[in-house]
Amino acid sequence: MNQGVLRSLARSFINGGDCSGGRHVLRPLAAEFGQRKSVSCGVIHARRMLSSAATEPAPIDKEKKESAIAEGEKKNGGGPVVPSSYWGISRPKITKADGTEWPWNCFMPWETYRADLSIDLKKHHVPKTFGDKFAYHTVKLLRVPTDIFFQRRYGCRAMMLETVAAVPGMVGGMLLHLRSLRKFEQSGGWIKALLEEAENERMHLMTMVELVKPKWYERLLVLAVQGVFFNAYFVVYLLSPKLAHRVVGYLEEEAIHSYTEYLKDLDSGAIENVPAPAIAIDYWRLPKDANLKDVITVIRADEAHHRDVNHFASDIHFQGKKLKDSPAPLGYH
Ligand SMILES: [Fe+2]
Ligand SMILES: [Fe+2]
Repeated sequence: MNQGVLRSLARSFINGGDCSGGRHVLRPLAAEFGQRKSVSCGVIHARRMLSSAATEPAPIDKEKKESAIAEGEKKNGGGPVVPSSYWGISRPKITKADGTEWPWNCFMPWETYRADLSIDLKKHHVPKTFGDKFAYHTVKLLRVPTDIFFQRRYGCRAMMLETVAAVPGMVGGMLLHLRSLRKFEQSGGWIKALLEEAENERMHLMTMVELVKPKWYERLLVLAVQGVFFNAYFVVYLLSPKLAHRVVGYLEEEAIHSYTEYLKDLDSGAIENVPAPAIAIDYWRLPKDANLKDVITVIRADEAHHRDVNHFASDIHFQGKKLKDSPAPLGYH
């Protein structure tokens, strides 16, 4: 058997699989969320067939490839098309409930939710121990420069705060992950719960940047604050997760306060109640005519959930237990 035939057989073995794996993963999810998603094997196969592997395509192949990409762009409403690849990776076609194509790669329909607006916004952890009081006053102190710098520019303020708020969940989740590896023990779901919180906070930021375009010096401030805060929180979490979670609990209480003030300015007309960004409508499953007030209301509800999770985590440590001893609040939004 000559080498060309062998190469051809190997290539068809690599490229010739069906798409059933994708279907098996997606169909239960589609059933769960009641949304119709279709996996287009044809598209995947077409892209695989376009794979140029190691050889330079002949001119006729190049023409076919360009026309296939143009066709793909047409079908995609002129949007970008994933380049063909030897690896055959391509996102399955996912649709919204109304049949239109799911426009986001950064989150999927099964990660969206309706915020629980019934949560008590006024709950407060009264500082009792020295650690609690230290955490409470540290957060109150941090609010002073924030108030001076941003005053009532709540859009910029929220954008800045979300760049900070998305750090603790990632640091806590990462350290619990490493602990799980080191100690050969489960985390009780807390790794996932904290990473979920970090992702949720990052989505707040992705929403805010649709509404506020940060200036160059604000971006610089974000860099500086992240550099300091990430390292400081990392060290505090290593030394005392109880204190670290308590600090975040109080930060979230402050976030609820800031978003309440934001809503007051929206109600008074000081801030224009513009239409909600598309990303927010899809992420929180808001109505199509939702506005900024709706968005801030759901973000504030998220902050109240983060407050509860972090005070709860600190309380677990306070009782001399480990986080893994209490079930993690997965999917608690
Ligand atoms: Fe947030
Ligand atoms: Fe938060």
